[in-house]
Amino acid sequence: MSAKKKKTKILIFDTTLRDGEQSPGCSLTHREKLEIATQLERLNVDVIEAGFPIASPGDFRAVNDIAKTIKNASIAGLARCVKADIDSCAEALAPAKKRGRIHVFLATSAIHRKYKLRKARSEILKQAAESVKYARKFTDDVEFSPEDASRTESDFLAQIVEAVIDAGATTVNIPDTVGYSIPSEFGAVIARLYDDVPNIEQAIINVHCHNDLGLAVANSLAAIQNGARGIECTINGLGERAGNAALEEIVMAIRTRADVFSNVDTDINSERLYKISRLVSRLTGMTVQRNKAIVGANAFAHESGVHQDGMLKQRATYEIMRAEDIGKEGTELVLGKHSGRHAFKHRVEKLGIALNKNELERTYKRFIKLADKKKMIYDDDLIMIAREEMVESSRAYALEYFSVSTGTETVPTATVRLSKGSDIIQDAACGDGPIDATLKTIDRITGVQGKLLDFQVQAISMGKDAMGEVNVRVSIGDDVMSSKAASTDVVEAAAKAYLSCVNRYLFDQDAKKPVAAEKKKVVKRKKAVKKKK
Ligand code: KIV
Ligand code: ZN
Repeated sequence: MSAKKKKTKILIFDTTLRDGEQSPGCSLTHREKLEIATQLERLNVDVIEAGFPIASPGDFRAVNDIAKTIKNASIAGLARCVKADIDSCAEALAPAKKRGRIHVFLATSAIHRKYKLRKARSEILKQAAESVKYARKFTDDVEFSPEDASRTESDFLAQIVEAVIDAGATTVNIPDTVGYSIPSEFGAVIARLYDDVPNIEQAIINVHCHNDLGLAVANSLAAIQNGARGIECTINGLGERAGNAALEEIVMAIRTRADVFSNVDTDINSERLYKISRLVSRLTGMTVQRNKAIVGANAFAHESGVHQDGMLKQRATYEIMRAEDIGKEGTELVLGKHSGRHAFKHRVEKLGIALNKNELERTYKRFIKLADKKKMIYDDDLIMIAREEMVESSRAYALEYFSVSTGTETVPTATVRLSKGSDIIQDAACGDGPIDATLKTIDRITGVQGKLLDFQVQAISMGKDAMGEVNVRVSIGDDVMSSKAASTDVVEAAAKAYLSCVNRYLFDQDAKKPVAAEKKKVVKRKKAVKKKK
């Protein structure tokens, strides 16, 4: 029996809290940084770069508190090659003990030497080696970054890498600081270092790629193929200018193309990627573009009829990863004018609407007409079409009316009226806010206890009467589902999106029950409604 070859671990060095926080327009409070660090630990990153301690008292405190709180990952702090920076970094990292990493950097490219530092190669070499030696007085874990490495002359880059390893650097990071490299070239930089630096095996080679040409992930992957063992990256690809390599893309590229990256893997818990992406987006206020790879809203959504039909027959026809692998509820078949009958039927059935052949044809035609006029078709649009075509056979709840009273001195109270087939049911409940009160009232009427896990609002039109699209993620029993709805009123959109999760849950439950039990329940419900009236 041939023993399976053990894969080499690629170390994931997350710099969301340092380089990511340097993104224009992104700033995090102390508490938010700790929250992100805790989630990064759960994601199982190897190193968390927590900040640049000398840069500000806030950065110092963040590095210090993260060093106190995080128990498994190494904690890195950034420092220029000057004693005061290294002292401050060592002090901030002290609580992390052996897991504290001092990360010193100094620019090495000709352009930085001439204009920024005004220093000769020899001075740079000396300063880098001395700083690494000095940092080693505080910790055994010292990283050196030759800033702008990818634009540094290859002989000088090899010279400085050798010098800092001799001085005690345990990790040497090769940054593509301005995102100038292309994959073949960057891979060659790493390969050449392995050829030219005699002591290179004594250190781990990291890479740190910026995304100015949209190549940060491709360059990082090329570096792995040429011997890099650590990747510096950020959640959602945040970072200076166009950002850094996106952690989620690196991890999923390695996993999904295990045929190519057959000898490496990371220790990342990929099922946590979606959740941390949402968290970072919410806390930094940096929205993730819909078509962003892996974590964008459209990454697992299909609209074309041909694709939807293929997906319903065999998922692998149009998906190379499973949404569940990043912790997202399954694939989404978005209904729009390009959708075919197959996907349409699938969705309406999911909503508890059973259609015979003629009804399917009629409602599908109406749906296509509507889809031609409207950008997005939501579940409540389908319920409306179905109700108009076939009122009695609809088992889905629809929102008929709602009103909420709220204010600084008032307990938010909602009154909601839902219809189901020909039944109308009304109830009221209080909550922590107008949305909470409305959703609690829906729970009372439907008898379903849902828990709102995520709630996002996005404007989908401009102006004072802007339409808001609400996305909800709801857990009901053991199920977690997502839905969206749009309205000029956020509470109404929330109610509709939530209700569509409830409908899907109830329909799935009904589908599991024997027919007799179902009939009994309907009779009971009708009685209950009469009583209320
Ligand atoms: O982009 C860069 O060169 C950096 C260094 C400090 C590693 O962020
Ligand atoms: Zn950087």
